[in-house]
Amino acid sequence: MKITLSVIKADIGSIGGHIAPSRRLLETVRNHISQNGDGFVIDSYVSHTGDDIAILMTHALGTGDAQVHKLAWDAFVAGTGVAKEQGLYGAGQDLLKDAFSGNVKGMGPAAAEMEFDERPAEPFLFFAADKTDPGAFNLPLYLAFADVMNTPGLILSPNLSKGFRFVVMDVSHTERDRVIELVTPERIYDLAALLRDPERYVVESVWSRATGEQAVAVATSRLHNIAGKYTGKDDPVMLVRVQMNFPATGEVLAPFAHGHFVAGGMRGSHQLPLMPVGLGSGISYFDGPPIVSCAAFAERNGRLTEALDAFAHPFWDTVRDRVAEKAMEMRRQGFFGAAMLPMGELEYTGIVEKLKALDEDFVVRGETAESAFWRAASR
Ligand code: 13P
Ligand code: 13P
Ligand code: MG
Ligand code: MG
Repeated sequence: MKITLSVIKADIGSIGGHIAPSRRLLETVRNHISQNGDGFVIDSYVSHTGDDIAILMTHALGTGDAQVHKLAWDAFVAGTGVAKEQGLYGAGQDLLKDAFSGNVKGMGPAAAEMEFDERPAEPFLFFAADKTDPGAFNLPLYLAFADVMNTPGLILSPNLSKGFRFVVMDVSHTERDRVIELVTPERIYDLAALLRDPERYVVESVWSRATGEQAVAVATSRLHNIAGKYTGKDDPVMLVRVQMNFPATGEVLAPFAHGHFVAGGMRGSHQLPLMPVGLGSGISYFDGPPIVSCAAFAERNGRLTEALDAFAHPFWDTVRDRVAEKAMEMRRQGFFGAAMLPMGELEYTGIVEKLKALDEDFVVRGETAESAFWRAASR
């Protein structure tokens, strides 16, 4: 049976700044989906990670389906009404357009979707991150699908040994989708050369070369590319099918023990380590640290099991302690150097205006008054 997994997420308001949605807001979105998805949504799971609400749906309508996207959009619109009523911060933050136009792409909410022939057993992982952006998944995906130091399956399992095909998007190209396909292991250095720049190149999907099946779908939208200004970070979601011809669950989870530094945190403008957290976690320290949750599922004919919290195990407490230490260590250097994102990635225009004003006060030593005049005139 061909099944589509669609996860569509948006920040439509939160309590106490950018911490987490209210219970009533979450319930409103959940009820909207269960009351209006009749007849086409097989099953759904509505959750939050930090201040972002994600709607996971199973159905048979394929990716990018207008009915499914409209259902999610309308649920977020209904939620925004409640967020306004409750005085939540950033009510409707990610709904950048007034009217729905067929697909949430380019409208603010982010989507990760894949359609596949359901396997007899269909285990998959649903990741959601807050206070960071889609490039945060570059390193974990590289390690899980291309690095034998992380994934012994790449040498132990004949099908994994055939490698994977990565589709990578250049997210700075805003007019249309600009993508490249690279196969591993042959193109592994080329892949690394791109993925090292997670603000520009983002893994969009990963496919098995042995069977052609899709393993991974990542939401790649960048809000400030859509809005042209700061509207919040592009907190991403990702679906990963696991086991059999794909890496095992543990091979996909293991890279998150690194607590790698990602873009995000306070005002979307810093470098902080990514902390794996339990389901339904909020945000705290320095509007961070950036967090990632993972709900593990199995499904049959589109019917989902309950969600298992993949980062609830005591192992991850040690990882969280280490990530907290790393975060505080980086914060000791405040605004300086590597602690803050480079100019092009800063989510606020205030500093650009400040630097422009300062530029005019610079003097070039030894310059004559006349050449200074002409230099200023040419600006
Ligand atoms: P969100 O993108 O999660 O709303 O965070 C915005 C922000 O600026 C946090 O400091
Ligand atoms: P405002 O600039 O709207 O207060 O939002 C920024 C923010 O919340 C960062 O934490
Ligand atoms: Mg927010
Ligand atoms: Mg968020």
